[in-house]
This record gives sequence, C-alpha cells and structure tokens, in this order.
Amino acid sequence: MTDRWAGYLVDYHRAHAGITEDLLGDTIDHRGRTPYQWVVDAVPAEATTVLDLACGSAPLARLLPGRRVVGVDLSAAELACAGGRGVLLARAGATALPLAAGIAGAVVASMALMLVKPLEDVLAEVARVLQVGGVLVATVPIRDVGSVPFAAILSVLGQAGIGYPERLDAGVAARFETSGLTLRSDESALFGRAVRGPDDAERVVRSFYAPGAGPDRVAAAVALLQARVRSAPVEVSYRIRRLVATK
Ligand SMILES: C[S@@+](CC[C@H](N)C(=O)[O-])C[C@H]1O[C@@H](n2cnc3c(N)ncnc32)[C@H](O)[C@@H]1O
Repeated sequence: MTDRWAGYLVDYHRAHAGITEDLLGDTIDHRGRTPYQWVVDAVPAEATTVLDLACGSAPLARLLPGRRVVGVDLSAAELACAGGRGVLLARAGATALPLAAGIAGAVVASMALMLVKPLEDVLAEVARVLQVGGVLVATVPIRDVGSVPFAAILSVLGQAGIGYPERLDAGVAARFETSGLTLRSDESALFGRAVRGPDDAERVVRSFYAPGAGPDRVAAAVALLQARVRSAPVEVSYRIRRLVATK
C-alpha cells in the first residue's frame, strides 16, 4: 500500500469508526438482504471458527450466532466499536494474522480486500489460517458503477477515476491460485438506500474514502448531496462484488 493510503486509512478510521456499518447496515438489495447478509450467506454451516478479517466494528458477528468469531483489524478505534459483540478481537495487519495455521473454517472480509497490499501476501495468510476445504468470502465495492449523485460527489471530492490501493481486476483468479486459494465465484449485486435529510447526506459523503480531498472539497460534496435531499429523499445505490474462494 502506498504510504499515502496507509496513513489516510488510520486517520480516517480513527475519525469515523463504525461508519461502514452505519452506511451498509440499512442498505439492501432487491431481496431485502444487506451486503453483510450476502457475505454470511456464503459461509458454510460447518465453519465453527470464523475469522473476520478487517472486521471494523464487527457487523458480521451478530449474523454468525453459534460460531466462534475472531475479528482482526488495524484500527484501535474500530476495534473499540466492535467490543462487547461477543467477538475475540486482535489488533493486527492483514499480512501477519495472529492466528494458528488451519484454525478457521471460514474467513470473511467485508469491504476490505481492495485496501490491503500486497494482496498475494494477504491471501497467503488467509490460506494459512484456513482449514483444508475452508472458505474465504470477500466483498469489495465497485466504485465506478454508482448512482447519479455518486458520480457528482466523487467528482467534487476529486476522486473520480482514482482507484483503491489494490485492484482486483483481470487475473484475480490466478492471483488467488498463486496464494493457495481457488476462486469459486465472482459476482456482483446492487444495494440501495434512501438518503434522508442533511445528517444522513453528510454521513453518506463522509463514508467515501477520499485521500487527497481536503476539508473544503469534503464540505462542498456534503453541501451538494444535502441540496439534493432538501425536498425529498434521494435513492443511492452501491454495486458490490462478492468473491468466494476455497483452500
Ligand atoms: C471499509 S472498512 C470495513 C469494515 C467492516 N469489515 C465492514 O464491512 O463494516 C475497512 C476496514 O479495514 C481495516 N483495514 C485497512 N487496512 C487493513 C490492514 N492492512 N490490516 C487490517 N485491517 C485493515 C480498516 O481499519 C477498516 O476497519
């Protein structure tokens, strides 16, 4: 990861701990599923120990009742939000997981693989902690296929066309294979929510990573969405990709 992203992510999650869950927790697809439910749907019933990689505030934990869930994240502020949810928590980076080899029946990584570099090292760590036959379920955002207000917001933030640290594009199956994982499915789904009122508009804008956008640009993007929601709620949509792999 570039130093710019590394420092940005630490500061961002210190200032906005829990924001991903705030945003996605009430975002649903046409079947009424949240992106978190979509992740959990692919976790095998026989996986008794589940590693939540880059767990953030650990929104997946309550969707995995009866499992032993271990949450790992770099952000102390996010882990503080995750406390009290019945999750064993550890502050660590994705390239050096504090878990024994072969301990997990499943690894879940919600909205995180696009942030971790080098991806092959992270996937190799995932493969190390997974049991043979264990499953990785990962979601990542697809930033360039959003709803109309998002295109305008990203433009104001100066983020249009700026990618995440890790691109999971063509060749991703081979990169999984190199790390000891076989990609079984790679699909996308559309999730949406209504943005209601100025506070919600601000939350939605601040949920975008925007390294390089100073406070003025962020304030301008907030004002833009607030103006749009003044008279009526605005529907926004997120296209999210789910990758499922096995060891
Ligand atoms: C977009 S949030 C997703 C949080 C949570 N999984 C969710 O979906 O609500 C990304 C998370 O990845 C964590 N993170 C970023 N880089 C990391 C790394 N190299 N190792 C571990 N965690 C990392 C951040 O601290 C943050 O909590």
